Amino acid sequence: MEAVYRNFKIIVVEDSEKMGVLAAGQFAKQIASKPSSVIGLATGSTPLSTYKNLIALCGRGEIDFKSVTSFNLDEYYPIKKSNTQSYDYFMRDNLFNYINIAPENIFIPDGEADDAERACWDYEVLIKNAGGIDLQLLGLGNNGHIGFNEPCDAFPKATHCVTLDESTIEANARFFDSAADVPRQALSMGIGTIMDAKHILLLISGAAKADIARKVLFGDITPKVPGSVLQLHRSVTVILDEGAAEQAMSYL
Ligand code: GLP
Repeated sequence: MEAVYRNFKIIVVEDSEKMGVLAAGQFAKQIASKPSSVIGLATGSTPLSTYKNLIALCGRGEIDFKSVTSFNLDEYYPIKKSNTQSYDYFMRDNLFNYINIAPENIFIPDGEADDAERACWDYEVLIKNAGGIDLQLLGLGNNGHIGFNEPCDAFPKATHCVTLDESTIEANARFFDSAADVPRQALSMGIGTIMDAKHILLLISGAAKADIARKVLFGDITPKVPGSVLQLHRSVTVILDEGAAEQAMSYL
């Protein structure tokens, strides 16, 4: 089903497979209308089906990444690119190695930088110099975070170094040998960076996120639920699977 709720175009699909088809289709449309699009990408398990579909579309020549530039939302800090848990590795392993994007057009915050603050500033400048992000893909953390913008007292504006929440460390420990191995910090686009994107595509998957999905889409706009700021963006498409949409349905 499809509904418009204030600034949100909300689409509810059966499962994450259908979510991936639809989300990849949005990227195909964006890149067909502007081959030199600047896209913003995300990590986590939610976008995996989107990436599978993008790889398939690219393989069939239905999407061409040749002139596309990409910026990832975030990266652990510190972390080596060669670490299989780095977002750099994740993106190569799940997308970049299988599509025709030019390596020099791929940007991910530098988890290996000596000077984190400098790396964050440089990242903001790179995004601005690329002309800003045309289409930004977002997942949603269990605590409502977008990128690694954790619940806090004020929305962080620009790319910055974050101390991860204990709940995020626990949630992401499933990918590491143990919670102790999860880096305690991350470099993340700020809320301001994300809000500057021309279009946003938010994906929310699984019944475990039904409650936070409702808060993000229909609750108070507060930095305690970082994703709620998207209620103030001009152009947001939200795709939820049936599990994640459970509590949202009564608003639609
Ligand atoms: C990480 C990422 C987020 C992502 C979140 C949810 O914390 N920094 O960008 O949205 O995980 O991940 P998942 O899709 O696996 O639930």
